[in-house]
Amino acid sequence: MRIRALSVPPTDTEVDDWWAVLVAAQAADLPGVPAPGRTEIAGRLRVPGARGRFVNWAAGDGEGIASLLLFTDEGNTHTAFLDVMAVRPDARRRGVGTALWQRVREELLGQGRTSVATTTDLGGPGHAFAQGLGFESVLPLGWYVGEVPADAAGIRVPATPGYELLVWHGLVPDAWAGAAALAHGAMEDAPSGGLDERIQAWTAPRLHAAHRLVLDRGGELTTVAAVTPAGEVAAYTELVLPDPAGPCALQYDTVVVPAHRGHGLGRAVKLRMLAQAAARYPALRAVRTTVADANTPMRAVNEALGYRRERDAAVLQLKL
Ligand SMILES: CC(C)(COP(=O)(O)OP(=O)(O)OC[C@H]1O[C@@H](n2cnc3c(N)ncnc32)[C@H](O)[C@@H]1OP(=O)(O)O)[C@@H](O)C(=O)NCCC(=O)NCCS
Repeated sequence: MRIRALSVPPTDTEVDDWWAVLVAAQAADLPGVPAPGRTEIAGRLRVPGARGRFVNWAAGDGEGIASLLLFTDEGNTHTAFLDVMAVRPDARRRGVGTALWQRVREELLGQGRTSVATTTDLGGPGHAFAQGLGFESVLPLGWYVGEVPADAAGIRVPATPGYELLVWHGLVPDAWAGAAALAHGAMEDAPSGGLDERIQAWTAPRLHAAHRLVLDRGGELTTVAAVTPAGEVAAYTELVLPDPAGPCALQYDTVVVPAHRGHGLGRAVKLRMLAQAAARYPALRAVRTTVADANTPMRAVNEALGYRRERDAAVLQLKL
């Protein structure tokens, strides 16, 4: 089986072929979940990552694809993330996945990586495949979905005395970037299990780079923040539309800084976001998010907002 690296940047045909594999795989594996749009896929393939270098491969005649993120950020150059590994449903169980994996493994070893992580749904072919290679679960999690009700734009957001709710589309304004980066530090409270990855300190430039990446890839990003008169960001939530014309959004971080917990700010920022997103994106139907099983407070906030658990998944890791 011939495994070839995609051109850098990939051609239109390479993007089309990649997208076709993903669409076919998703239709087979997750029939109820809309496949990513071409805009999102082209963005991911064409715009370099903020934390590392992607290497992308295609197998044979478009039978399968793999994408590996080799971290370049400080403290993580020993590890990597297998972002995509998919084989067209009609070409499965014939060793295509194994051939792709051999190429990925060769790259990992060649780049001196001693571990690699990936996420997969539990109980499906990806899980069986990864377990066969020796991957082990380091962080069980769930995919949750929140439907966007038809009247969401008019939703009533509870009052937040002492806090003002601000909405930012795109990059966080410079005046708030330092405070927002500080609040991002509280994401470290979210469980990360036994993942062999070092969390970087958040700074305003790093926050801007992470957000810039979403925009450069053709997506849109909205932040709702609860701020204090002293200029702190006490809580925030981030919503990304990888394809702004599409029906699906991804919930990124939701954080309430420890000193401000217990005032209903998590719920307030998320409801404000829902109203905002429903008004701005008329085609939006669902918001998806992953939450670690061990993250009881976040699961409680999401459940109170009507999110339902859609499927079980996990971050898996392999030591090389
Ligand atoms: C996982 C995936 C890439 C495997 O591709 P593939 O070409 O079928 O894999 P291979 O033929 O090389 O299978 C290698 C081994 O994995 C295991 N395996 C693969 N699919 C399996 C399944 N559906 N059930 C049980 N075991 C499975 C088997 O041990 C298999 O060896 P065998 O066929 O000799 O029994 C493919 O099913 C896929 O695209 N799934 C959807 C995306 C996904 O979950 N990606 C994985 C993220 S880690």
